[in-house]
Amino acid sequence: MKIKEIFQLAINKGIEADFRGREAIEKILKRKREKYAKFSEEEKRDFDIEVLENPYLDSRILNVAQDKEIKKVLVGIDIDPAEILMAKEIGGIDLIISHHPLGKGLAHLSDVMELQCDVLNIYGVPINVAEGLMKERISEVARGMNRYNHQRTVDAAKILEFNLICLHTATDNLAAKFLKDKVEKEDSLMRIEDLVNLLKEIPEYKEAVKIGAGPKIYVGDRERRCGKIAVTEITGGTGGSPKIYEKMAIAGIGTIIGMHMEEEHKKEAEAANINVVIAGHMSSDSLGMNLFLDELEKRGIEIIPCSGLIRIRR
Ligand SMILES: [Fe+2]
Repeated sequence: MKIKEIFQLAINKGIEADFRGREAIEKILKRKREKYAKFSEEEKRDFDIEVLENPYLDSRILNVAQDKEIKKVLVGIDIDPAEILMAKEIGGIDLIISHHPLGKGLAHLSDVMELQCDVLNIYGVPINVAEGLMKERISEVARGMNRYNHQRTVDAAKILEFNLICLHTATDNLAAKFLKDKVEKEDSLMRIEDLVNLLKEIPEYKEAVKIGAGPKIYVGDRERRCGKIAVTEITGGTGGSPKIYEKMAIAGIGTIIGMHMEEEHKKEAEAANINVVIAGHMSSDSLGMNLFLDELEKRGIEIIPCSGLIRIRR
């Protein structure tokens, strides 16, 4: 497989697993293309045309040093210049894949957060409420990106001539779908303790338990009932609005499964009586990546995991 084929496979898998469905995503892209067509020449010159084809702008081809057949890939949750140097030491690495966004993928992280509005809507939060609350948070995240040296690792890949891509929301969608399918079968009177045990049966979380990073109850206690379980905080860039929990409770959500959560969000969830089970960050990111990496392995590509990736084959 070539880099472009690997990247496109990831985007396609991400669309397949997307809670919104392929048709809704096609509509979003079509709308962007129609808007672009009306742009002036000057507006078109500065425009990133990937916006017209890629629904996950935090997933990107960042550097193509040599467009060759890919046989051996170094994959990590975070790729820093240290991992680029590591690739050089290992030798024979054709492509490096980072899960967390880098370069222009990081600069566009806030773009994928719109997905959260639709996911909240699927779980019963009115779209106007979700969009209203998320608007503020999305612009906050967009402004926050300016502080980062987002091209640092991309520059290292350029200097040492490594192919580099990042796959963020595309694979987080796979983790979200996997967890949604798993918990949807369960009875809403299930207790939090049983939900945690259910998560611990998933190999990535089982491994995370061994290193002290297993699933944890952030809000609620073991004996409480889950009610309706929502997978609203596994995909969609980064944490959403802390004001959303009250609206979730009104929409009938009882428990949310997340990857990680800030204190402010935890307090708001507590005030709204929303139970929170934090599955784990690196382990959840690994779950999504693994579901994709299995596809690469099936096609004969060797995977070398690094940087927090808990590699499990299915
Ligand atoms: Fe992550």
